[in-house]
Amino acid sequence: MGPTAPLRSSVLYLGCLLIIVGFAAYGAVASDAAKTVGPNACAECHKQEAEAWKGTHHFKTYREMPRNSKANEIADKMGVRRIRQESLCLNCHFTVQQKNNREEPVAGISCESCHGAGQDWIKVHSGFSGKTTLFESKVEEKERWKLADSKGMIRPRSFYLLAKNCYACHVVPQEDLVNKGGHKAGSAFELMSWSQGEVLHNTWYSKGRENVPANAARKRMLYLIGLGVELETALRAIGKATVRKAYAFEMAKRADGARKQLAAAAKAAPNVPEIARIVELSHTAGLKLNNERSLTAAADSISNQITIMTEKYDGSTMSGLDSLIPGPEKFKGTARKPDN
Ligand code: HEC
Ligand code: HEC
Ligand code: HEC
Ligand code: HEC
Repeated sequence: MGPTAPLRSSVLYLGCLLIIVGFAAYGAVASDAAKTVGPNACAECHKQEAEAWKGTHHFKTYREMPRNSKANEIADKMGVRRIRQESLCLNCHFTVQQKNNREEPVAGISCESCHGAGQDWIKVHSGFSGKTTLFESKVEEKERWKLADSKGMIRPRSFYLLAKNCYACHVVPQEDLVNKGGHKAGSAFELMSWSQGEVLHNTWYSKGRENVPANAARKRMLYLIGLGVELETALRAIGKATVRKAYAFEMAKRADGARKQLAAAAKAAPNVPEIARIVELSHTAGLKLNNERSLTAAADSISNQITIMTEKYDGSTMSGLDSLIPGPEKFKGTARKPDN
């Protein structure tokens, strides 16, 4: 992300400090510690996927972040004494599991941070409806996945839920943590390119023969839904802004950037009218301080449009977007080659 270049002053108006937003819960992701089984439980079957994960920043942050001098500086400023124990940092940097009635960080950002806490769906998703692979009917298979979804599993095809999860961590919606703690306001995140580099672990269905990248249609969906969620998330985050400092500027810059990219996407893919609608909706709320109600309403309407897009399209008709989609040189990190 670029330096904290101030936004045009017209983008952010000084609002009167009427609303002081307090945060009870700091964690952005509502991960359910009581239902978290931990990455080792997944690795019992998903060995290759777990190996890929071990090569990521997500894995390493567990050990490295608390030792980092910048981390200690942030923690000091925020009055956090034990980084691995206080909730302010936990939900974004670690996987927390409930053990003997205590909440314990057991890993960095792991399988369930992205695929949902597993306890209720782990047996369902892998159980082939109580049969063997060969004898499960198509109807039973469909029911199995429906049941897994309903029990909180987030599958690769659930674009919206997946993207929301990434953005819940990669945009930091805590004004204090940014302004006072000096934490980054988030990452220069783009869903397609950030999921196809070091994070990629599509080695299950290829039986470890290949780490299969997303195909063209899937890339378009990741790109488009990612941008939509970026805009939605940034609008909600600006809603939490109460002072004219780095946090507010960064979030306004993010929202403005996302809607410009979406405007370009709307032009490139006129056969997807929902994109232009999202841009229009984003202009119904001013990117200004103390404007939570109207920003949240815009974000809610945008959320509806994103949901419609995920139900209506699979990316195959969106080749218009291809010229906008980042190429492999932009992938964040390198995808692991499986060892067969
Ligand atoms: C007992 C073995 C086993 C365990 C343990 C297990 N899985 Fe799986 N997983 C499977 C099988 C088998 C499939 C493929 C099912 C199929 O082909 O229909 C699968 C498929 C998946 C998929 C792909 C879903 C899709 O949409 O195609 C994901 C994601 C996944 N597992 C995540 C996890 C996570 C996360 C954990 C830990 C919380 C986990 N699995 C634990 C066996 C397991
Ligand atoms: C809302 C989610 C969120 C919260 C809460 C959060 N972080 Fe982060 N943190 C991130 C993200 C995302 C990055 C990666 C930013 C990037 O792309 O450069 C990051 C990066 C960092 C880094 C630099 C990278 C590294 O690990 O060396 C440090 C240090 C850090 N965070 C410390 C903390 C501390 C200490 C706390 C608690 C006081 C905390 N963070 C709370 C999301 C969060
Ligand atoms: C940072 C988020 C994230 C983490 C952490 C993560 N996954 Fe995934 N997983 C994804 C995404 C995104 C995809 C789909 C990738 C794509 O679009 O190409 C995926 C795909 C999968 C698949 C389908 C593979 C295939 O062959 O198609 C399986 C199985 C899976 N993950 C299991 C796991 C397991 C097990 C872990 C932990 C060891 C894990 N994931 C950790 C986000 C994550
Ligand atoms: C639970 C919070 C969380 C979730 C969910 C999450 N991330 Fe992250 N991610 C982080 C943090 C924190 C870091 C920085 C770790 C560090 O460097 O210490 C990070 C780092 C990364 C990096 C490495 C960035 C670099 O600087 O090289 C990539 C790539 C990435 N995330 C992609 C994703 C994708 C794609 C998703 C969703 C499919 C996702 N993340 C979901 C918290 C999260």
